[in-house]
Amino acid sequence: MCGIIGYCGPKAASEMLLSGLKRLEYRGYDSSGISVGQQNSGEPHSSEATLSIYKKEGKIAALRSIVPQELPGFWGIGHTRWATHGGVTDVNAHPHLDCTGEIAICHNGIIENYMALKERLEKEGHQFVSDTDSEVVAHLVESFYTGNLESAVKAAVSLIQGTYGLLVMHAQHPNEIIGARNGSPMVLGVGEGEMFIASDVSAMIAHTKQVVYCEDGEVVRLTPQGFHVTDLKDRPIDKSIEGISWELEEMEKDGYDHYMLKEIYEQVDSIPRAMSGRLDDTQAAAVLGGLNMSERELLAVKRIVILAAGTSYYAGRVAAYLLESLARIPCTTELASELRYRNPLVEEGTLYLAISQSGETIDTLMALRELQRKGGRVLGICNVVGSTIPRESDGGVYIHSGPEIAVASTKAFTSQLAALYLFTLKMARMRHMAWPQGKRFISGLRALPGNLAQILQNAPALEALAQKYHSAESFLFLGRGINFPVALEGALKLKEIAYIHAEGYSAAEIKHGPIALINPSTPSFFIVPDDHLRDKVISNMKEIKARKGPVIALCTQGDQAVAAVADDVITVPPCDEEFTPFHMVLPLQLFAYYCALQLGRDVDQPRNLAKSVTVE
Ligand code: F6R
Repeated sequence: MCGIIGYCGPKAASEMLLSGLKRLEYRGYDSSGISVGQQNSGEPHSSEATLSIYKKEGKIAALRSIVPQELPGFWGIGHTRWATHGGVTDVNAHPHLDCTGEIAICHNGIIENYMALKERLEKEGHQFVSDTDSEVVAHLVESFYTGNLESAVKAAVSLIQGTYGLLVMHAQHPNEIIGARNGSPMVLGVGEGEMFIASDVSAMIAHTKQVVYCEDGEVVRLTPQGFHVTDLKDRPIDKSIEGISWELEEMEKDGYDHYMLKEIYEQVDSIPRAMSGRLDDTQAAAVLGGLNMSERELLAVKRIVILAAGTSYYAGRVAAYLLESLARIPCTTELASELRYRNPLVEEGTLYLAISQSGETIDTLMALRELQRKGGRVLGICNVVGSTIPRESDGGVYIHSGPEIAVASTKAFTSQLAALYLFTLKMARMRHMAWPQGKRFISGLRALPGNLAQILQNAPALEALAQKYHSAESFLFLGRGINFPVALEGALKLKEIAYIHAEGYSAAEIKHGPIALINPSTPSFFIVPDDHLRDKVISNMKEIKARKGPVIALCTQGDQAVAAVADDVITVPPCDEEFTPFHMVLPLQLFAYYCALQLGRDVDQPRNLAKSVTVE
């Protein structure tokens, strides 16, 4: 989703902004722009300045092509836009200006009352040029400005309903940037004589690893010398500077053609990282210190509700199955977007798990806040350290998968699973799981990297499969039990990066409707491990074959019965039933990747999608 960056310091601001925006590309965007303040004398400390604005629909490369090389100017703001209000055009791209052209703003979020504000401002004589909600902020700041930019921004945001990560600069305030946050992420980067402000750390990691996370309701005044944070009532807020553990190299493609492919291959390392230091062989249990709950409190948990969106939601569905079957705790998974508005019943004994790779998904964050407001205890299962969900959770588990840059989530899914499997082990060992079962479970977890490395060797077979099937208009992904959510995830991957219509279903459900879709050009991708439902799934495969539907099967090595029915077979090494989701999802990720390649799609930044979904 929209990304913002601001810079003030001794270096050329245009270059700092453009390279920062490049790092924010992964969030998903359709246009971009920068505003650079140029001191008229060319001196960094001159008090006279003008703003130069460059905005362009399309990729950052298009923006770069219109920004003069060696553009003077030492402070500025930039934006990648993911359109919400108003089409994808140069005019609708940020930054937006006020009527004087002296105030520039970049905004991430949605101004819900922008129509009323716009009407009021138009009556006062303000001229609007774009169709965006964001432009009202520039004019609002203008309407309140009497010489103090920070006060004008505070007056403006106090009238705004909605969400914002906002950056404002003024030509008469050289080297000063004002930032304000409500519901959209914002982080400061502290350098040597230079300061950064952005929607996430990736925009500044090449320059500093010292960061300050902003909270809702905070306003920041940034100059090259430092930062000052206050609330809307001008009360100063003490902030601590934290270090980032991610390395710049982790954000590079490292020789792979795409981030997605790199991240698929990384799973062999990212899964053990999620488990590192968390397995207790002596007790055959898991150690999860960040939960902030005593054993007694964990034992008092009577029900678990998982909330998440997209791929994280499917990880939650796998976990719900596991928690119920191994820990014997009733567990349901809910779409955070629905849970929030359903007026959920929060009862004593219920524990909530919010799963989010980015830690910024607004639907999940808002559901978390609603549950906490009602007195619910919410644990976060997140990847991005310091992001909003883990900071606002009552405790949780970081999955440590490292930066996930491709829009389509792959390694975060399996690392979420790894963290949730550890949580299940912990809960199960406090209840019905005996020590030998705990030991066996740990062995299953430890076998994952080796098995996944073997599965990755199937890449050429999956590439060939994609060559054969990529022109199909529609796919069914079918699985059962713990692999039903994996079928949903397989369908989601194919939709989002190959733009092929795909539906995920329980294999048992097809006869209740979807079987009507079957014809010789609609392939069904079956997930059929050697588990207690295998024979039933084989019968479902035969039902499809009888109707001349092509059948692809993902099954356990050596399964002749499956091979006898399917047109194409991909195999995975044998494992205990509960570990099959890890084994099954990898080939589905690779299949989607190769289909997308065949179809010439933009694999890492698929159309219309955003990595971090910070608007409702
Ligand atoms: C799919 C995908 C999305 C995210 C969803 C939630 O590949 O990436 O469906 O899973 O937007 O995002 P997080 O996990 O950041 O809350």
